[in-house]
Amino acid sequence: MGIIRKCELLKKEMITNGIYKFSIKAPEIAKEVKPGQFLEIKVSDTGEPFLRRPISVYNAEKDIVEFIIQVKGKGTELLSKLDIGKEIDIIGPLGFGTFKIQNYKNVAIVGGGIGIYPLYQLTKELKGKSNLNVYLGFRNKELVTCEKEFEEIGLNKLVITTDDGSYKEKGFVTDFMKKDIEEHMVDMIFACGPLAMLKTVRKFAIEKNIPCQISLEERMGCGIGACLGCAVKVITENGFRYGHVCKEGPVFNAQDVDI
Ligand SMILES: Cc1cc2nc3c(=O)[nH]c(=O)nc-3n(C[C@H](O)[C@H](O)[C@H](O)COP(=O)(O)OP(=O)(O)OC[C@H]3O[C@@H](n4cnc5c(N)ncnc54)[C@H](O)[C@@H]3O)c2cc1C
Ligand code: FES
Repeated sequence: MGIIRKCELLKKEMITNGIYKFSIKAPEIAKEVKPGQFLEIKVSDTGEPFLRRPISVYNAEKDIVEFIIQVKGKGTELLSKLDIGKEIDIIGPLGFGTFKIQNYKNVAIVGGGIGIYPLYQLTKELKGKSNLNVYLGFRNKELVTCEKEFEEIGLNKLVITTDDGSYKEKGFVTDFMKKDIEEHMVDMIFACGPLAMLKTVRKFAIEKNIPCQISLEERMGCGIGACLGCAVKVITENGFRYGHVCKEGPVFNAQDVDI
């Protein structure tokens, strides 16, 4: 389990409407974190809301950890208002199931919405080991983030989609990924995004017999295996058992979970 750390907020930037990038001083987290891990962040000093909010690590370099939040409700709203210099109370890095990296020849990395953020560190770590084909999907132009940052990693291919066609390719990101894979096989798919997207990726990977790792950013409570707020069906020889996304995940082999 991760330990509580006080991390100074060094920089906060609104990168598009309602989406903020945070840089915090967190040398231990930066040293330990593996792609796919997340932080449980205390969002207020008053005890309201009581529960910490899980947020993925976007990037870690030297002493600095970056994460990106989209304001959804009270917790993320409070986070977005924190002042520079504030010491943020963070548990992490958390999650035992992380993205597993090997020397794959060709990979597809597919993300949707806020699910693209944990894929950045992963993509950077895969650089030089694999041909990187990255597919990032957003609802519309206003929500497109991190395109330049992914591009600068140096990719074989970057496809940006919007559901409404207001920027780059129109349609579901998974359709573009599937079409490319039909033409050029990959040896691993990595995915993070909304449940509907992950279901599509999982089904395709199983049909095509392609190894696939998915990060399940389910709702979480405690984040440390104590509340059952994040149950997922893990497939067993005799059927299934319930596992915890926060402890065993958030990354699972797609073939091992029933979502
Ligand atoms: C492992 C993990 C990693 C995450 N990483 C990030 C990240 O890098 N950046 C980021 O912006 N968000 C991330 N999230 C989602 C984030 O934790 C939630 O958006 C946040 O907790 C909502 O808190 P809130 O108090 O603002 O909203 P609440 O008041 O709790 O909820 C407001 C709205 O957001 C929806 N919501 C709450 N939790 C989630 C969720 N997990 N997924 C989708 N919708 C949700 C609710 O259904 C509701 O409609 C992650 C979640 C998990 C479990
Ligand atoms: S979030 Fe509490 S058990 Fe997983």
